[in-house]
Amino acid sequence: MKIYNFAAGPAVLPTEVMMQAQKEFMDYAGTGMSIMEMTHRGKVFQSVIDRAEATLRELMGIPENYKVLFLQGGASTQFSMIPLNLARHQKAYYVISGSFGDKAYKEAVKCSETLTDIEPVLLASSKEEHYAHLATFDAQAIDPNAAYVHVTLNNTIEGTTIFDLPETNGVPLVGDMSSDILAVRYNVEKFGLIYAGAQKNIGPAGVTVVIVREDLLPEKPVLSSMLDYRILADNGSLYNTPPTFGIYMAGLVFDWVNSLGGVDAMESRNREKAALLYDYLDSQDFYISPVEKKDERSICNVVFRTSNPEMDADFVAAAEKEGFMNIKGHRSVGGMRASIYNAFPRQGVVDLVTFMQKFEKEHH
Ligand SMILES: Cc1ncc(COP(=O)(O)O)c(C=O)c1O
Repeated sequence: MKIYNFAAGPAVLPTEVMMQAQKEFMDYAGTGMSIMEMTHRGKVFQSVIDRAEATLRELMGIPENYKVLFLQGGASTQFSMIPLNLARHQKAYYVISGSFGDKAYKEAVKCSETLTDIEPVLLASSKEEHYAHLATFDAQAIDPNAAYVHVTLNNTIEGTTIFDLPETNGVPLVGDMSSDILAVRYNVEKFGLIYAGAQKNIGPAGVTVVIVREDLLPEKPVLSSMLDYRILADNGSLYNTPPTFGIYMAGLVFDWVNSLGGVDAMESRNREKAALLYDYLDSQDFYISPVEKKDERSICNVVFRTSNPEMDADFVAAAEKEGFMNIKGHRSVGGMRASIYNAFPRQGVVDLVTFMQKFEKEHH
């Protein structure tokens, strides 16, 4: 039976990348050692991380005046590092359109309880509407001297995406791009900082990518070293032992994206895949899409449900029997979620729609 993995993260990786990693697993580039066994201070690993960074820069169009960091601790650690590094003596605005944005804001508030010169401000939230749409705000309400405006670009759990970046009255955007980095094209120059956990569109869990404009780095190190962007940047992400295997895998995934035409090509493939599902969802009334506005629908996480939770559970169980794995929605919202990131094959979406039609006929 063919297995399709709809997991939201860690998620499916490109077959070509897995095959290449398998081929090189015991002997990387004729060294007689696995990449996992090598010092991060040697020439071989240095060339791996340099190449990964260079390819990412090319793919995303990252300008020279931005640092690219490969860190650990997941996107969740960034929820604290961002206010600690960027928001001292300044306001920091939060726009909350999903659970991860809410978490980011709450972590900033926690930071402000110990460091009183950090001032997180809730600019807008769609929590009351169960995040059925993106939160909106008036740019004029933003203090132009603020440190940043934090947004989540793709709401992994709720299935909405910011495709058009908002106006922020000249204040840098800080973007959580965890679930649509390299899947949707964004203009990096509109951001002061971008961050993303690797485990959806970049590689295995364990690496967190941070892209930060140089002038926003703390002038001199004041934080614990592992939390200080300045120290991490000055050491080329090698202040301590980095997640070497994850960085190597990320490099392979970047090469793979490049070989298929880059981020624009990925976005059009993803749009086409997502449209197969959304067109079907719009054509019937057995399944419901909770996302209110069509132009906010995610092309990475397609969320849907039936009219009742028991039917949803039956759907998930029946889907698993047919090889459609991990399609259960996040525990906080229930229903179903098809995560169809870059590496997810088009055929898997076609087959899912066929399965959904069959299930609908049998249960309507
Ligand atoms: C948008 C978004 N932000 C943050 C996170 C948290 O990431 P991590 O588990 O790497 O801390 C996730 C995880 O799924 C996410 O989807």
